[in-house]
Amino acid sequence: MAVPRISAELAVALRRQLLDWYRRNRRDLPWRESADPYRVWLSEVMLQQTTVKTATPYYEAFLAKYPTLEALAAADEDEVLATWSGLGYYHRARNLLRAAKLVRESHGGTFPKKLEEALSIHGVGLYTASAVLSIAHGVPLPVVDGNVRRVLSRLFALRGDPWRTDAAFYALGEELLDRDHPGDWNQALMELGAVVCSPRKPACPVCPLRRDCRALAQDLVDRIPEPRERRAPVDVAVAAALVQEKGRVLLVRRAEGKLLGRFWEVPQTSLESRGLPDLVREAEERHGLKLAPGALLATARHAITFRRIRVEAYAAKLLARPPRDTERVRFVAPDDLSSLPLSALSRKALRGLHEAQRPLSFS
Ligand code: ADE
Repeated sequence: MAVPRISAELAVALRRQLLDWYRRNRRDLPWRESADPYRVWLSEVMLQQTTVKTATPYYEAFLAKYPTLEALAAADEDEVLATWSGLGYYHRARNLLRAAKLVRESHGGTFPKKLEEALSIHGVGLYTASAVLSIAHGVPLPVVDGNVRRVLSRLFALRGDPWRTDAAFYALGEELLDRDHPGDWNQALMELGAVVCSPRKPACPVCPLRRDCRALAQDLVDRIPEPRERRAPVDVAVAAALVQEKGRVLLVRRAEGKLLGRFWEVPQTSLESRGLPDLVREAEERHGLKLAPGALLATARHAITFRRIRVEAYAAKLLARPPRDTERVRFVAPDDLSSLPLSALSRKALRGLHEAQRPLSFS
C-alpha cells in the first residue's frame, strides 16, 4: 500500500489547523452538549444511516422519551420502534435496546471503555465503538466513515486499489489521530467532510487544510475520491444448510468485518466457494460445525454489489453437537428471527424453507 509520508511536523500542523477550525466553526448539535456515552452512542447510531439534519429531530424526540440508558433499558421494544419510526433501519433500534439492557446488566450501566468489550455488544461495530469511545471517553481510536475517507483521500491524493478498503484508512487514521483530543479530532474530520470537503463543489478556499492538500495542489479535487468502478457482474453459487431442531433453525454469526459484520445467517459457504462441494468443509472451518447435507429444499437469488448469487438451501443434519457459544451459534425460533440482524440472503433461504411447506413458519 502506498502509505503517504507524513512527517511529525506535518501531523502536528494538520492537527492544529483542523482542531482550531473545528473549535471555531463546529455546528451546535444537540449531542455535543454533553459527553454522556449514552447520548453519544445514540447520536452515532442515528448518524450512520442519515444526515445530521434528518437525525436531529429524531435524536431529540428519542432522548425526551428515553433520557438515560436506564430508561431505554427498561423500555418496551414496540415503543422504542415507534419512537424510531420514520428513521428506517429498524434493526438498529432493536440492537440499541438489546445493547442497552446488556450494558445495564453486564457493564454497570456505562458504555464500556475497552474496544474489545464495546465490540462484543450486539450491533456495535468498529465505527460505533471507536466513535463512542473517542468522543465520550477520550480513548485514542480513529474513526473512519465516508466523510473521513473523502477528506483523507483528497488531503493525501490517495488513489488506487488499497484505498478502496477501510483497513487502509484506519491505518492512516491511526497515524494522524490527535491522541490528546481524539473525540474532537474525529468529529472535526467528519465535520470537515460534511460541510467543507463535500463530494461535489467542495469549499476549498475556506478549508483549514488547503495549504497541505495534495489533491488541491495537483488539481485533482474533482477526481478524488475516485468513483467506484462498476465491475462486471459475477455469478456465484452459495450453498446454505437448513438445520432444524424442535421447530428452531440453526444460525451462526458472521465475524466482525465490513460485509455484514456480526450478522446472523444460516451456515453457508463463502462467496468464493463452489457451493455444495465446499459446504461441509467451510462449515467446519468457519463455525466448527459437522454437517451432513441432504435434500435441496429451495433456491433463491440475491445480488450483492457485483455478485449475482444463486443460493441453494439444503436440509442438513448435525453429526456432532455444535460449539457451545451462543454468541456465535444458536438455534432460533421463527418468532425470534425478526429481532436478530439476519442477512438478507439467509432470509431468502429461510423463506424458501417456508415455501417448501416445511414445519417451520418463517415470515
Ligand atoms: N457524523 C457522524 N458522527 C458525527 C459527529 N459526531 N460529528 C460530525 N459528523 C458526524
